[in-house]
Amino acid sequence: MPTLYVPRETAAGERRLAATPASLRDLARLDLDVVIESGAGAAAGISDEDLEAAGARIGGPDDLATAQLVARVAPPSPAEVAALPEGAVLLSFIAPHRNLEVVRALAERRVSTLAMELVPRISRAQSMDALSSQANIAGYRAVITAAYELDKYFPLFMTSAGTIRPANLVVLGAGVAGLQAVATARRLGAVVKVSDIRAAAKEEVASLGANFIDIPDAADLTGEGGYAKEVGEDFLSRQRHVLTEVLSGANAVITTAQIPGRPAPTLVTTAMVEAMPPGSVVIDLAAADGGNCELTDTAGVVEHGGVRILPGHHFPSEMPGEASTMYGRNIAGYCGLLITDGQLALDLEDEVVAGSLLTHDGAVVHERTAELLEGGAA
Ligand code: NAI
Repeated sequence: MPTLYVPRETAAGERRLAATPASLRDLARLDLDVVIESGAGAAAGISDEDLEAAGARIGGPDDLATAQLVARVAPPSPAEVAALPEGAVLLSFIAPHRNLEVVRALAERRVSTLAMELVPRISRAQSMDALSSQANIAGYRAVITAAYELDKYFPLFMTSAGTIRPANLVVLGAGVAGLQAVATARRLGAVVKVSDIRAAAKEEVASLGANFIDIPDAADLTGEGGYAKEVGEDFLSRQRHVLTEVLSGANAVITTAQIPGRPAPTLVTTAMVEAMPPGSVVIDLAAADGGNCELTDTAGVVEHGGVRILPGHHFPSEMPGEASTMYGRNIAGYCGLLITDGQLALDLEDEVVAGSLLTHDGAVVHERTAELLEGGAA
């Protein structure tokens, strides 16, 4: 019976883990010996006893050394790569474009790495879509954080002391996180305006009761797999022009715009922040990829002319129980694809495996990452 090992996460601020009692129930249907490092659930409020009761064994590094499968949330550190058994299959977020040295080390260790952010967005892989499960949390949490930070009600109130106008919220990027932010903000009664560059986003935004911000001469910039294309400076400058006006009336801006595997586009410049009303907030969910706001700092809140800019890359980790439950289910879904009749087998012809395979057999097999490595980016 293959062993699946789940380590305690060590990255700064990472409170999630890759298996929870809910996902262990899914994993129980596969013939897997699940071993979880002692204390792995502590930061998410899940005890060793809870995990044991749901069918896992509690173990340590000796179990890792003999595991065939390893599941984690954050990319491993170089020391953690060195501790992986040679030839093991690793399921994890890797952010390959930001962690090229780690990717190289995984290949050298002959680990078969299945990067959770590379799982194709196809119907069959929905249960494994960890980008979506975590983006949903980030979008929700961004709005809750904005509501908490603002000295302003979100809804319209008619009171005997006068009418209180609703908050104006702007969401940049209407992917999974952005749409969840729109839905959450609408539930709280805010007036919401949204910008995106994919044509399909306009209808989705309208169906949630928000207004789409039209950019003059915008072409549909939908790229491969429904993702956004990288846009030119010409479009970005026209977009910034329109957004400057919109942002000058905003109480909160939530930015979520990303281009897979590339730095996030700069949508909010310092000048635009300076045009925002004092007391307003920018919450940048693209912070880890450089941010959509020029002033974003992943280290913490930046205050500029009375406007606060908050990085939101860690939001899923701020709801570690819920985030781990969903992520654990995504991992269990993927394990279902890897285990047949109690045997671990990587079917390289499978579209999901082929799409998410980053390193295999001593090589970096993901084309874009291999190009980045060859280009000397690491
Ligand atoms: P993402 O996290 O890569 O980007 C967020 C949003 O930012 C996207 O909507 C993108 O168009 C937008 N964006 C990029 N540059 C921008 C700019 N300059 N200005 C404004 N917006 C900009 O996106 P996410 O959430 O990963 O979704 C990407 C696509 O994948 C969507 O089309 C979504 O519908 C699709 N999807 C499909 C799924 C499935 O079929 N199972 C599941 C989840 C998402």
